Amino acid sequence: MIALAVARENASPLVRAPRADDGPSVWRLIDSTPSLDRNSLYCNLLQCSHFAQTCAIAELNGEVVGWLSGYVPPGRDDTLFVWQVCVGRKARGQGVAKALIGEVLGRDASRGIRYLECTITEDNAASWALFGSVARAMGAQIQRSELFSRDTHFDGTHDSEMGVTIGPFERGQIAGLKA
Ligand SMILES: CC(C)(COP(=O)(O)OP(=O)(O)OC[C@H]1O[C@@H](n2cnc3c(N)ncnc32)[C@H](O)[C@@H]1OP(=O)(O)O)[C@@H](O)C(=O)NCCC(=O)NCCS
Repeated sequence: MIALAVARENASPLVRAPRADDGPSVWRLIDSTPSLDRNSLYCNLLQCSHFAQTCAIAELNGEVVGWLSGYVPPGRDDTLFVWQVCVGRKARGQGVAKALIGEVLGRDASRGIRYLECTITEDNAASWALFGSVARAMGAQIQRSELFSRDTHFDGTHDSEMGVTIGPFERGQIAGLKA
């Protein structure tokens, strides 16, 4: 758990692992972010409970202002896959997303993680900027390749998602992500 000092008066988001009772707040945060796919509340409850070890919340004055969902893909114990990362408008541009990633990677349970993966649509400039910045902060390589294509995997209903891999990195390199 880390406290993140930000520029606004009395504003110091707490970054922590989620609890099951955070599910509805997480669902509402994602619902209020038009660029993100909504999942069911049940999905968010599972993320906040079964997958709490690889998810994180940023909380400001009792309000959930940031969320990261992730998991270790089965059979790939050295990889953290970031499913969604979301920061509410009023908390953006203050390092909250980077701190959410740093918090999960810094946990004891993440000791074996050497690669960070995610997918990003071509037009999501903020997301490319975030993960580019994460790679730079860790001094790690970043590679991209098309993973899920609009026609083959989304039946034409969703933009293609590029697969992004950052790593390999050692544990010491995540220090650059700390607030
Ligand atoms: C992407 C998102 C999570 C970034 O959150 P954030 O807390 O503002 O990001 P940070 O403050 O930690 O910024 C990290 C880096 O990304 C850069 N960045 C963030 N948003 C940016 C933007 N809109 N344009 C350009 N750069 C941006 C920052 O400048 C920073 O770079 P630096 O470390 O080199 O200075 C947030 O904009 C968001 O929730 N967007 C909508 C949801 C989404 O698209 N999520 C990603 C796909 S799942």
